[in-house]
Amino acid sequence: MSTLVRNIGQLITNEGFGPYRKSGFAFTYADGLITWVGPETEAPNDCDQVIDALSGAVLPGFVDSHSHLIFAGERSAEFAARMAGQAYAAGGIRSTVAATRAATDFALRSNCASLVAEFHAGGITTCEIKSGYGLDVDNEVRSLRIAREFTPETTFLGAHVVPAEFAENPDAYVDLVCGDMLEAVLPYARWIDVFCDTGAFSPGQARKILQSGADAGLLVKLHANQIKSIGGIDVACDLGAVSVDHLTYTSDSELAALANAGIVATLLPGVEFSTRSPYPDARRFLDAGVEVALATDCNPGSSFTTSMQLVIALAVREMHMSVDQAMRAATLGGAHALARTDIGALAPGMKADFIVLGAPSIDFLAYRPGVPQIAHTYLAGKALTT
Ligand code: NIG
Ligand code: FE
Repeated sequence: MSTLVRNIGQLITNEGFGPYRKSGFAFTYADGLITWVGPETEAPNDCDQVIDALSGAVLPGFVDSHSHLIFAGERSAEFAARMAGQAYAAGGIRSTVAATRAATDFALRSNCASLVAEFHAGGITTCEIKSGYGLDVDNEVRSLRIAREFTPETTFLGAHVVPAEFAENPDAYVDLVCGDMLEAVLPYARWIDVFCDTGAFSPGQARKILQSGADAGLLVKLHANQIKSIGGIDVACDLGAVSVDHLTYTSDSELAALANAGIVATLLPGVEFSTRSPYPDARRFLDAGVEVALATDCNPGSSFTTSMQLVIALAVREMHMSVDQAMRAATLGGAHALARTDIGALAPGMKADFIVLGAPSIDFLAYRPGVPQIAHTYLAGKALTT
């Protein structure tokens, strides 16, 4: 069954030559994969089905390369306290750990399913999901087992924070993460990640944990420089990390190191918003030759949003990205942060994951803040919302 998508106001392909925003373009797909992209006047006329984009912009589905959807409970009181002047601290994670451990599988799965439905409605077609609110062997395993029901991009974040029962002996917890816990989660994880920051794990501990994960065949990511720069970027460079995420505070020499190592910088403006922290200047990253990805970091503590549209609006307004740069970062940048070559662009052979806006241009994603602009989300060519 082949499909032609036509009457597209503006097509973003992230591929090939010519202007970033293509007008008068159409594309076809079959069996969930793009088969042709080109001027509508040259489109094949023998497709089984036609989708009329009604002059709306069409773009690749958003790729959210950083989220924490396996949790129970909520922390709105902590958010309110921050807005009344308190600072964000890593320790808040422990209250979500207690709620998550007490929850049933059914509750964790239902919560994750409703958040993934929000992702889809908002145009996210691929998401990564981390563990990290279990922090014991059984709860980390079940977190990743449930996450796997929703995405192949699952990340073992046993080193999110030291759990209360190991407060007196954090190195014993690091040994557990590198040993029994890693071994038990391995069938359900593609990635390993560590929260390397003040109040969480040191660069030395992060190095040990990430090395164990890499030795076991996991791809490496790192949470770093959210609260403070404590040396996580050096570790990420040494270990060949695919992405370093947060980067609220990043020096010029750290940017040069990221560029040199070809590591994707995943910026998470929902966190700066929700923790009232200064937004990093994304232009510094781009000028230094660092590839940028944008992600939601959806979690109950530091960024409880599933809206990539909000993330894009903040990146444009507060982090000084152009709309085109933000668009690329939320699609192809995310794909690169997940080491994926089959998503993030619309070109022959790639997955037919795309979004149709109810607006003529991608500017509307930032120009109409707070007002949903996604009319339809298609996953492997199938409509998810109508
Ligand atoms: O990516 N910073 C570390 N981890 C999460 C926040 C977790 C939480 O506060 O519950 C993040 O922002
Ligand atoms: Fe995170």
